[in-house]
Amino acid sequence: MNKEIRKIGVLTSGGDAPGMNAAIRAIVRTACYHNLEVMGVVRGYNGLINGELIPMNARSVSETLQKGGTILQTARCREFKEAAGVQRAYDTAKTYGLDGLIVIGGDGSFRGARDLTRIGLPTIAMPGTIDNDIGCSEYTVGYDTCLNTVIEAVDKIRDTSSSHERCSVIEVMGRDAGYIAINAGIACGAEVVLVPEKEYKFDADVLRVVLEGKTRGRKHSIIIVAEGVKGMSVLEMAKEIENKTGIETRATILGHIQRGGSPSARDRVNASLMGSKCVELLLEGKSNRVVVMKDGQIVDIDIEEGLKMKKAIPEEMFEIAKKLST
Ligand code: ADP
Ligand code: F6P
Repeated sequence: MNKEIRKIGVLTSGGDAPGMNAAIRAIVRTACYHNLEVMGVVRGYNGLINGELIPMNARSVSETLQKGGTILQTARCREFKEAAGVQRAYDTAKTYGLDGLIVIGGDGSFRGARDLTRIGLPTIAMPGTIDNDIGCSEYTVGYDTCLNTVIEAVDKIRDTSSSHERCSVIEVMGRDAGYIAINAGIACGAEVVLVPEKEYKFDADVLRVVLEGKTRGRKHSIIIVAEGVKGMSVLEMAKEIENKTGIETRATILGHIQRGGSPSARDRVNASLMGSKCVELLLEGKSNRVVVMKDGQIVDIDIEEGLKMKKAIPEEMFEIAKKLST
């Protein structure tokens, strides 16, 4: 054990995600197990700049495992993207006597963690975002819960869509990534899935599929569109489909409902394992590491290396989604 690590901080940054509390709880309790002091940094990097830190103990995280959101609040902090902001955050960390910091967030938050490490604060990161858009990790905390929320919502829309023999265009989140869309599409049997990673032609990829479905006697069509898809909005798309096919069409934007709710079993377990590992890494004297899932295992890699990594939705998923919806 590295004797220099006596007091650590933990913060959540970027968009909140179900399971962040499970991660905070695991970090606090693992730290307590090792007799470390833990400070919760409130409102992400903002809190580190402004000195909003609260002491935490094993009881501070009681009854939080099952809660959505983040008990530490989260934020997007512009000031932290500048060197002066990082320096102020570092100074606060030193004022509070932090020997290490754990950051739960997406790749923007990882860049911040790397910057803090560079100026001398050992930092470990772990992925918390519903988007699953982290190149170096197969999985991000919150993604599984989000996907289940989307599936439940699409199933409900399907009931009414089918009853009215309508077409439904449903927008899901994911920022610039289509993981939520393609997986929800397969899980809900959507006729069309549009993602930012793949260009589409409205006539061939949307209109034709809806019309062919009608000809084959399909009662309704479900079209899932990732929010990052360029071109028409889902409202415009719904209007265009209705005008060109004569099929009544409705648009639904699922919105922030996708970010809330009690975390799934998978998110609770993985957040707990990842959070605990972050503390162990600090104690081993490691820094500038990100805890990720690789080949189904929870491992740590260098943040810089991790930020360079890219992942893509396997082409096969699109092919299977198409095959299964015919
Ligand atoms: P996410 O972590 O989910 O990708 P953001 O991109 O909003 O979310 O990043 C969260 C926060 O991380 C930002 O508000 C900012 O404070 C910090 N951050 C983002 N990008 C950088 C960067 N290039 N350098 C330093 N800090 C960054
Ligand atoms: O990164 C999570 C996410 O929910 C994205 O899917 C979405 O693009 C964005 O955050 C929405 O951010 P805000 O909460 O600022 O509306």
